[in-house]
Amino acid sequence: MDKIFIVANWKCNPLTLEEAKALLSGIKQRIKNIKKSAFNKIEIVICPPFIYLACFLKTGPYIKIGGQNCFWQNSVGAFTGEISPLMLKKMGLKYVIIGHSERRKLHKETDLLVNKKIKAALASGLRPIVCIASLAQLKNSLKGIDKTRDLIIAYEPLFAIGTGKACSVERAKKYRQKINFSQVLYGGSVKAENALDYVKKAGFQGLLIGGASLKDKEFAKIIKRFA
Ligand code: PGA
Repeated sequence: MDKIFIVANWKCNPLTLEEAKALLSGIKQRIKNIKKSAFNKIEIVICPPFIYLACFLKTGPYIKIGGQNCFWQNSVGAFTGEISPLMLKKMGLKYVIIGHSERRKLHKETDLLVNKKIKAALASGLRPIVCIASLAQLKNSLKGIDKTRDLIIAYEPLFAIGTGKACSVERAKKYRQKINFSQVLYGGSVKAENALDYVKKAGFQGLLIGGASLKDKEFAKIIKRFA
């Protein structure tokens, strides 16, 4: 059976390393009584800001760490301010979020750039979690990339991101049916209350969670829904 992905996107939070460590240990503490066998069916991925990554590598067997972004070239070199996907891979990461709507909006990332980043991440051996807000973005961001490649799509309708106005399960289900990939996550105002519906009723393979992943109690509650 394929695993259900529960991916935490911490975005530009929290403010200090101490708070980041406290959040992680709060999550670990709250999920420690989950039966070990439950982790055979859930993959928990936490994506903290880059500057905390190095302190997050020993998260134990049940939590994986991912990046929130990467450079579009699969190498190191004179790219001031960038983080190479190869660095993330060498650091031991397995996942990287690419094309999040906030990067598309705030950093003017185009489908073409997202496409290059996906290719670089794949070439580095990372598993991209590609965010899309529409079917056009899906098509253009994945141009020339084989459907059978090891990537995950995250459908995140813009109106639902960070607004508390989650997408209806019916609408999400319609989109899920149009996205011809085997692993597709739903993202946008996910909380413990609605988490299960996107998987059980709308047919998604997991969730990309922003705000609710910054509260250890709520995030652990979401995980427990699937345990
Ligand atoms: P949200 O964010 O859960 O706070 O809506 C989701 C995301 O931006 O990935």
